[in-house]
Amino acid sequence: MSSTFTLAVIVGSVREGRFGPVVADWFVGQAKQRDDLSVDVIDLVDTPIPSTNFSSRIGAADAFVVVTPEYNHSYPGTLKIAIDSVGREWRAKPVGFVCYGGLSGGLRAVEQLRIVFAELHTVTIRETVSFHGARQRFDEHGVPREPDAVNVAAGALLDQLGWWARTLRHARVTTPYGA
Ligand SMILES: Cc1cc2nc3c(=O)[nH]c(=O)nc-3n(C[C@H](O)[C@H](O)[C@H](O)COP(=O)(O)O)c2cc1C
Repeated sequence: MSSTFTLAVIVGSVREGRFGPVVADWFVGQAKQRDDLSVDVIDLVDTPIPSTNFSSRIGAADAFVVVTPEYNHSYPGTLKIAIDSVGREWRAKPVGFVCYGGLSGGLRAVEQLRIVFAELHTVTIRETVSFHGARQRFDEHGVPREPDAVNVAAGALLDQLGWWARTLRHARVTTPYGA
């Protein structure tokens, strides 16, 4: 079994003036330092939904990380439309979360996403990276002001995600998921 896996990072915010790309770029930078994965960044701002482009990239991935803000105690509507536009391509794959927001750090958005992704036959990863007061947590170059803790948190998330990605890919091949 190949030890590398394909990670799709989904950038969920499409709002004008959004902060999401700063968070996503940092996380993708962390992921690209590893030799156990390849990254496909799916930014919903320039990915038509629904489209075969989106569904085929979800289908090609072994694992997902959703980068989401919190809006009014939930996640962006655009993200829900994207999630709902695809079905079987999500199945029997792991989903992790990098979240950000005001006081909540996006954690309430993630709790709601876990319920949605359960319905899609995915496994959500316990380890989550959260930024509260997100704009103050990065400098003008997009570098976290306190990198040690968040870089470790990203590594823990990717370690768990990788275990599930490799294990479930093997399982999907040997025992096709029959839900
Ligand atoms: C409409 C709206 C609602 C928001 N609601 C919350 C909220 O319920 N909890 C929270 O912690 N932050 C909330 N925020 C703050 C955002 O999470 C924060 O500004 C974040 O950077 C937005 O992500 P974006 O800039 O990538 O769109 C809200 C922001 C907006 C624009």
